[in-house]
Amino acid sequence: MKQSSPRSLFATRLGVIATTVGSAVGLGNIWRFPYEAGVHGGSAFLILYIAFILILGVPVLCAEFALGRSTHRGVFGAFSAIRPRSRWRWSGLIAVVSSLMILSFYSVVAGWTLEYFIVSVKGGLSSLSDSELHSLFSSFIVGWRPVGWTIVFLLINYFVTARGVQKGVERLSNILTPMLFILIIAFCINSLLLPGASEGLAFLFHPDFSKITPSVVIGAMGQAFFSLSLGSGVMLTYSSYFTDHTPIVRSAMITASLDTLIAILSGILIFPAVFTYGVSPAEGPTLVFEVLPSIFNRLPGGMIWSALFFFMLFLASLTSTMSMSECAVTYFVEEKGMRRKSATALTIAVAVVFGTLCALSFSSLSGLTLPFVGSFNIFNFFDYTSSNILLPVGGILVSVFVGRIMSRSQLTKQLSARPSGAPSIAARIIPFILCWVAPVLITIIFLVNL
Ligand code: PHE
Repeated sequence: MKQSSPRSLFATRLGVIATTVGSAVGLGNIWRFPYEAGVHGGSAFLILYIAFILILGVPVLCAEFALGRSTHRGVFGAFSAIRPRSRWRWSGLIAVVSSLMILSFYSVVAGWTLEYFIVSVKGGLSSLSDSELHSLFSSFIVGWRPVGWTIVFLLINYFVTARGVQKGVERLSNILTPMLFILIIAFCINSLLLPGASEGLAFLFHPDFSKITPSVVIGAMGQAFFSLSLGSGVMLTYSSYFTDHTPIVRSAMITASLDTLIAILSGILIFPAVFTYGVSPAEGPTLVFEVLPSIFNRLPGGMIWSALFFFMLFLASLTSTMSMSECAVTYFVEEKGMRRKSATALTIAVAVVFGTLCALSFSSLSGLTLPFVGSFNIFNFFDYTSSNILLPVGGILVSVFVGRIMSRSQLTKQLSARPSGAPSIAARIIPFILCWVAPVLITIIFLVNL
């Protein structure tokens, strides 16, 4: 993303797609989707997730794009550009808190990818049996190394964000994201040849509506918001660099389709292996890291594949965390008058503190019990609260603001591909979803879960 002021805009449409996809595609697709689907019964979760992407994801993404592009401001500025000095701008604060929470636990998992990259390069995975591979992760996660890697990852993120070398990283990820995609497809073909393939695919695709419970519904909604980076102001901020010619609805649909496709492919990659190697699909956040090494280890030249895959996953995580830190940094710079470097240092320092606590919640802090709360896992708390509560709340706020407060003619103009012609179908349907469907549906899901 470009930082100069007055604002420079994305030069090409490819630049627009590459940045929004860079934020959307990351651990959310390859790590979080399979683990959430595994915990929530597979196919039931997948159906709801796709439904939420279509009903809420694409319209809310259009709302963020419309608000960002029309105001050319960050998440605080955008609300107050349309409603100066109103309480609406505090919606931005929720976005900043959720970005910081996500940055904290996300960096822990990104740290795991670094560990696995290094272990792969050193050849430490080859010649290990399945049970040895599983215990490798179990013993890694209870030590101090995860804390070290979390901090290393956050420092890399600091360097990229503070030095403004985003462009370099983006150029790299523009090449590597398509490669990651090709690699995942190749690994999927390999997974489909495993003995547990049919069981794995049935788990993911055979519809079983009896498994739909309130917790599956809220989990799938949270995953839709998390995976599309919605409700955290990230997409809004990126779209403030769009030109007036960027087609909003089309860009939102391309971003959502690519993001969903990569999530589904990750499911096809993981679940056949889960059933082949006898791992429980409901293993939780550690699932993918216990299963992937077993897959790679069986491939000819497994070490190289594994190193390549974890390096690409690390880069995909970096383009996502860059977008999260950007949201907090913009707040500290624009609202608190801080210099960019200090704002980045503060953001990373907060994430180091909370990231360390999250990393330790699998070891020293795993038995934490709190008064009134009972047993408490900080990592799961950060993951659950930000994705399943704060992001959807951010989604309600932006939907209501764009649907009801922003002028309708302005919104129609933003959503129409040709601003001068008649409003497109999308420009008629999306405002209705923003005004009614999104706030009502999300509120009902919250109430049912209470
Ligand atoms: N969408 C990112 C992913 O799937 C995570 C993310 C969430 C990024 C919220 C920014 C804001 O990995």
